Amino acid sequence: MSIILNIPTKVYCEPNLSTLLFELLRLYGKRVLIIVDSYLYEKLDSLLPDVFSDNELFLHVEKCPLHEPKTGYIDNLTNSLKAQECFSVVLAIGGGSSMDLAKALAISLRNENEIWSYANLSNRPPLDIDIDPLPVIAVPTTAGTGSEVTPYSVLSNSDTGQKGTIQDPKIFPQVAIICPELYVTLSKELTALIAMDAFAHAFESYFNCSKESPIAEAFSITAIDLILSNLLELYHDPCNQNLRKVIAQASMYAGLAIAHRGTSVAHAIAETLASKVNISHSQSVSISTIPVLKASLKDNDFYGKLGNLSNRLLIPKSKFLDNLENIYSSLNLNKSLASIINIDSIDSLPDKVMASIMEYKFRPLKQHPIQFTESELFEIIKEVLI
Ligand SMILES: [Fe+2]
Repeated sequence: MSIILNIPTKVYCEPNLSTLLFELLRLYGKRVLIIVDSYLYEKLDSLLPDVFSDNELFLHVEKCPLHEPKTGYIDNLTNSLKAQECFSVVLAIGGGSSMDLAKALAISLRNENEIWSYANLSNRPPLDIDIDPLPVIAVPTTAGTGSEVTPYSVLSNSDTGQKGTIQDPKIFPQVAIICPELYVTLSKELTALIAMDAFAHAFESYFNCSKESPIAEAFSITAIDLILSNLLELYHDPCNQNLRKVIAQASMYAGLAIAHRGTSVAHAIAETLASKVNISHSQSVSISTIPVLKASLKDNDFYGKLGNLSNRLLIPKSKFLDNLENIYSSLNLNKSLASIINIDSIDSLPDKVMASIMEYKFRPLKQHPIQFTESELFEIIKEVLI
């Protein structure tokens, strides 16, 4: 049976976060595990005065580490939390990593296996999540991952360095709250970089050929349109609340797109690359997107589908790539790994990235309309790096 629309998450766009959370947390139980980005940790009680002054709520706050949560950290934290308390709900306030960690803990606090066993790798099926995870309330503070409306949690394996994703409808957050005031502390550079991750979600989902999904397509087109039409203006006016709200909503639409039809080649390269060098997910995605697009434009079918998108966006399809490259330049985005970090041993890196994709991340390649040969893929990876 094919589900064409699956959005179990209630989405609020609400400036008064504290009052809303005060009401919601009581509905979901009173023992609350809060996962928060470290920069918000000290300010949390002033951000949520209604919640922190409620004597009936039990609150346990954990600071989220930077980047994707590591499996060893999650397993240790799970054991420690299980020994201390029985939680009824997990509240994530932060970027993608906080939401990934919250979803992972929502599973691990109710189930027995190590968290990595639930990650879906191309060469190994995940274990079933036997017991329903704790409900998750997600409050994003960055506009890019869309994790507040997806059934995904991205993890990094502490032992192997692999990046893997838990993909299960049981970890859709029950509630997402878009609160534009939370985004304004982000620099214009990070705002642009993270928003291009949302662009990549929408773009890869739009071309994903794994299944028909008019819903994913509609969400993709809306997200791409909002980002291309507004991101540059936000970059030059980063305190503009209205533009922050528009890009936050675009990120959510892109999240809804990948919730129905996921990412493909650029994300497969990006996630593998980010497991080998110390760059963020957004950085690795932003340098992977254009090389994959360039290689794809050589295919007539892809070019035809780009035409449908271009018509909707009122951009001539022959100008789409130039247009995107101009936006990258205007946003001062890096175009290759070599422009981000010094790479001492770049000679072996393309081989390592290629080998890892072929080992455990080859399935997303099949969702791209063009089946690149290994040598074509290798050339794309080299362009991402240099
Ligand atoms: Fe992403």
